Amino acid sequence: MKFYIATDHAGFALKPFVIDYLTQKGHEIIDLGPDSDARVDYPDLAKKCADAVIADSGSFGILICGTGIGISIAANKIKGIRAALCHDAYTASMSRAHNDANILCFGERVVGKGVVESILDAFCNTSFEGGRHAARVNKIEDCCSFGRVE
Ligand code: RB5
Repeated sequence: MKFYIATDHAGFALKPFVIDYLTQKGHEIIDLGPDSDARVDYPDLAKKCADAVIADSGSFGILICGTGIGISIAANKIKGIRAALCHDAYTASMSRAHNDANILCFGERVVGKGVVESILDAFCNTSFEGGRHAARVNKIEDCCSFGRVE
């Protein structure tokens, strides 16, 4: 699988571990930053990764912030992105099987490295089941209402 990865400062320390783990498993992973743990705003990194995934058909993304919450919310604003916030292997697996998730998110402050490995394995080793789930996934885009909510 081909992955783009980005974090904010609160997910930065976990990034090399994830890159090493996926590389050892034979996956391609492209680091979109940041290059230091200086404070950054998670929506900026979410957009960078989401735009890369949309531009590169068939690719996936990984986004990490402190909780995974902000960065997943931001990524899901991008048309075509299905970002799943997963802190266990079961939801990571289901995010692929039922939701065809194209970005995996988690929080560095929430999970340890062992759990991260199990999440990554579950996400990588599970395929979208299609069928009835495909119709539901197609409807997700119908939920988009364009324009800013004031
Ligand atoms: C940064 O302090 C933190 O708010 C951010 O990484 C993330 O957890 C937000 O959802």
